[in-house]
Amino acid sequence: MAFRQAKWDEPIIFELSKYRKQGLIVDDEFKKYSEDALKEIPNDYLRARDDLNMPSLSEVEVIRHFTRLSQMAYGIDVGPVPLGSCTMKYNPKICEELASDRRVTDIHPYQDEETVQGILEVVYLLQKWLAELTGADVCTIQPPAGASGEFVGALMIKKYHMDRGEEQRTEMIIPDSAHGSNPASAVMAGFKVVRVPATPKGDTDINAIKAVVSDKTAGIMLTNPSTLGLFESKILEIADIIHNAGGLLYYDGANLNAILGLVRPCDMGFDVVHLNLHKTFAAPHGGGGPGAGAICAKGELKNYIPVPLVDYDGRKYYLKYDIPKSIGRITWFYGNIVPAVKSFIYLASLGPLVREVAEISVLNTNYFMKKVTKLPGIDLIYGRDRWRKHEVVLSFEKLHKETGVTAEDVAKALLDRGFHAPTIYFPLIVPEAHMVELTESETKENIDSLVNAYAEIIQLAYKDPEKLKASPRNTSISRLNNIVANALKTVTPSFKFISRVRSVIKTDKT
Ligand SMILES: Cc1ncc(COP(=O)(O)O)c(C=O)c1O
Repeated sequence: MAFRQAKWDEPIIFELSKYRKQGLIVDDEFKKYSEDALKEIPNDYLRARDDLNMPSLSEVEVIRHFTRLSQMAYGIDVGPVPLGSCTMKYNPKICEELASDRRVTDIHPYQDEETVQGILEVVYLLQKWLAELTGADVCTIQPPAGASGEFVGALMIKKYHMDRGEEQRTEMIIPDSAHGSNPASAVMAGFKVVRVPATPKGDTDINAIKAVVSDKTAGIMLTNPSTLGLFESKILEIADIIHNAGGLLYYDGANLNAILGLVRPCDMGFDVVHLNLHKTFAAPHGGGGPGAGAICAKGELKNYIPVPLVDYDGRKYYLKYDIPKSIGRITWFYGNIVPAVKSFIYLASLGPLVREVAEISVLNTNYFMKKVTKLPGIDLIYGRDRWRKHEVVLSFEKLHKETGVTAEDVAKALLDRGFHAPTIYFPLIVPEAHMVELTESETKENIDSLVNAYAEIIQLAYKDPEKLKASPRNTSISRLNNIVANALKTVTPSFKFISRVRSVIKTDKT
């Protein structure tokens, strides 16, 4: 089965615009009303004196433009999105529907606590459930993304050491398979990153940890399972090494979906945990919407959690600020409440079945791995004989050497066959990598289709590599110029600029 988006090239709305076309008939009374209202605005506050540069289109043109755009887009509601690490899984529509209820979206953050008891109860229960799932003492839903949760956790570790008069603890140990946000967060919190490698079996090298640990060690940041999809088999030993040296353990919980309801990070020795609510517990990830990177802490570190927490005094729910050692407030108001509500509904609807999230995603990954690694040109590099947890990293190094076809070419060819590409070239320690994660969402039939697509691509790679390098052809926009497309992401361009570069990025000339 192929999951296709529409193939056409939609102009930007300004290119469709024709002077003085309009989609709305404004009656004279309203026109006069708005002109009078405009006159009342003091000159100093008027941003534009002339007409705003808005596109002019008829109503039907506007509707068709946006509908065509939506048909060009590929999303999780169209077909599988096997993005490892930055997982995008199907998000139950009940979560979307209830979270967009006006009783959630219309609450004003300055409303008196007495009038928002419902939403405070939701946050209170979510904090409790997340604590239960991680084995922590307290949780907050405040950080607005996974990476910001990491930053908060690193600040908590820092303040903990400073309060103990151990300012010399300036080093954070991080494996070289880590998500890039781990070292970035550690550096932002003022730590020096000490890298440790993985063993050929895919575990973090325990001897390398022993070699770098010292009285400068503030802690270690780990995700378990790792970004290789492998469970850290020596995690208890690692926890002892770090704790005995006076350091703390930070858990990057972006991979918690692999062990949800089965194993708890704090039982493995972790002191502080972030969870990607927008990955593990519903709510679209990445470009799909705002996230929530809840932070949970255990033992002494619980005293450093950001304020306010939501608490209950036996009569009402309230925002609790009285946590003397807290690192303070780290975001506005309650945090990103909508993804938190989605996660709450997701958990409430699953109840004890929540462990199936982990069981099915692990089953899906291993089924896929066993089938796909029978194909030529694919290797696993690390832990070849081990079962995976939630994701598997394939290496196309052999295929590249034998045919010249890269991991990127294979990913583009998957687009042609109606799939979203997996995460590519990550983790950095795997050459020509495809990081595939199927989550609990995908059916056996969908996984089989993905394996078949890989099989077809590899066959073509050995037969006609040049044809493959011209992929994608079936998508609205064919092969982009990576450099220009990337540069475009980093600026907020004007529509004239977009118009100009559209023609450039569509060619592979630099
Ligand atoms: C392993 C890992 N850690 C951290 C993050 C950062 O999360 P976010 O994208 O919400 O900042 C991600 C992103 O998915 C991740 O995969």
